[in-house]
Amino acid sequence: MAMPLLLGVNIDHIATLRQARYATMETAPHAEPCPVVAGHDALAGGADSLTIHVRGDRRHMQDADAFRIRAEIPTPLNFEMGVTEEMLGIALKLKPDFACLVPETRQEITTEGGLDVKAGFDKIRITVARLQDAGIQVSLFIDPDLAQIDAAAECCADMIELHTGCFANAAAGGQVAAEVQRLITASQAGHAAKLQVNAGHGINYTNIQQILTIPHLAELNIGHSIIARSTRIGLTAAVREMKELMSAYSA
Ligand code: PXP
Repeated sequence: MAMPLLLGVNIDHIATLRQARYATMETAPHAEPCPVVAGHDALAGGADSLTIHVRGDRRHMQDADAFRIRAEIPTPLNFEMGVTEEMLGIALKLKPDFACLVPETRQEITTEGGLDVKAGFDKIRITVARLQDAGIQVSLFIDPDLAQIDAAAECCADMIELHTGCFANAAAGGQVAAEVQRLITASQAGHAAKLQVNAGHGINYTNIQQILTIPHLAELNIGHSIIARSTRIGLTAAVREMKELMSAYSA
């Protein structure tokens, strides 16, 4: 039987809004809006997992958020992290179900490109192994590029998350067919390499229709569009709407 397409809801932007009032690590647990409350709301709408990213500059999620979410919300947790000793240390203490390794630079507005697994192979391979030794499944966030998929398989990653940012930008500009084809080819290659294939970045309530044409997808990670929609209809309803759209998927 075909598995349903799962939805990981990225709730970083709940913390982004809170940080607009400069909450500190100490005050964050009491300031609004609260990521733990948001996590519960997302679950009520049918989220299959929650995704959080503690960035090096702590621009949204704080360390305390991650540990509270892990302790208080009984759902699979996906911890997005840069490939640094600091984040590895947090992940090994937090023990999320999944870790997704992402590139991270201080100036970027959001994660702007995939991880270059080929260029950073040795460090990434060691990080993957240390996380897996702690019982954490590891995903690599990569561009839909066959060389990166080969490198991800060589790193013994459990999963890849295909970066759909170029597709999302193309969809907005109407130049979409080539980007969808790149994602289809990459997904087929990831599946053939026995990697679980996820996708994320820039997916919204409109462009999801093209995402649903990509074969072999196990999970989508969506943040910005769901949080934006939640400002109009609430987070539980926004997640439910996205899940309804996703229910049309057949791998
Ligand atoms: N996947 C990864 C690895 C990301 O870094 C992000 C953005 O934080 C997302 C998915 C979600 O992207 P968006 O917020 O555009 O839905």
